[in-house]
Amino acid sequence: DKGEFRHYMMKEIYEQPKVISACLDGRISETKVLTSCFGAESGFLKDIENVHIVACGTSYHAGMVAKYWIEDLAGLPCSVEVASEYRYRKVAVPKNTLFLTLSQSGETADTLAALRMAKELGYLTTLAICNVPSSTLVRESALTLLTNAGPEIGVASTKAFTTQLTALLITSVAIAVENGLSAEKEQELVQAMRSLPAYVSDALSQDAHIKVVADRFANKHNALFLGRGTMFPIALEGSLKLKEISYIHAEAYPAGELKHGPLALVDEDMPIIALVPHNDMLDKLKSNLQEVAARGGELYVFADKDTDLNNEENITFTEVPKVDSILEPIVHTIPLQLLSYHVAVVKGTDVDQPRNLAKSVTVE
Ligand code: F6R
Repeated sequence: DKGEFRHYMMKEIYEQPKVISACLDGRISETKVLTSCFGAESGFLKDIENVHIVACGTSYHAGMVAKYWIEDLAGLPCSVEVASEYRYRKVAVPKNTLFLTLSQSGETADTLAALRMAKELGYLTTLAICNVPSSTLVRESALTLLTNAGPEIGVASTKAFTTQLTALLITSVAIAVENGLSAEKEQELVQAMRSLPAYVSDALSQDAHIKVVADRFANKHNALFLGRGTMFPIALEGSLKLKEISYIHAEAYPAGELKHGPLALVDEDMPIIALVPHNDMLDKLKSNLQEVAARGGELYVFADKDTDLNNEENITFTEVPKVDSILEPIVHTIPLQLLSYHVAVVKGTDVDQPRNLAKSVTVE
């Protein structure tokens, strides 16, 4: 049932504050991550020395964000790979490595094949972050953390992605606690997590503005998304969403790579979508934006007000709530979902059932 919404995708975008709460529920206290959420055997957390994350598509993008979190908070090496590559190569597995899969459906053929292969490779244990309790991936993994997003009908993943990020944040902090994260820092991160549903609601309040921005996109044939740090995987996810449902060719680059090639694409016909985090990379990103502006590129900036980009000429600005940097990738995802949704509606594509795509890719 779509309720008041025209498409399942929009209904699912609007469910995010609620399902992110459901994902956090019972997994954090006022001050701590509750490691019991990984089941009775949470002892594995203290033995982890490396993490290998394997997934496909949108789930892979969630994994890319987690690499930044795990290496930053826990100081442990973390690699992320698409399942269709992982399963067909010889993988070197260091001692005490956690094998972590991400899947909305738990039925993705390549991810399942990767898990089956991994079980022969001597990993410490296997953990699935998944939305479907009865899925094959959950059944075949030693440990599970469910995302609790509820059924997702729209083919383009929205709430499944942001709840995967939420579950990954819980997991990253849990691993970090065993690797020297102070109780004070843990409490700070947990408090940030507790405010996440409210920030996601705030981000949704830009919907009417984003609809106006989307009108200007409908006649474009290409778009370039830029981000740095955890915003780079979010740029990839934003460009995937735009491709999937509006059929506009979109690419994403780490902003620092611009000069190494993609800058050649920039002219008056190329909209640039910049995801601007509010951290010490802000000035570097601003100088990347100047490079684009100097070549006549049309700039669409998603940032909080205090970045001082809201009054710049030649910039179409969309406000994103100012949040603790750990939450930025989750909160910045919301306006990009809304952007691709509204562009698709203007173009008249089949939002919930994009051409050529299936919700669950059970064949390779
Ligand atoms: C894109 C999308 C896909 C899936 C991918 C993996 O919006 O939904 O890229 O993320 O097919 O699916 P799961 O997460 O079910 O393994």
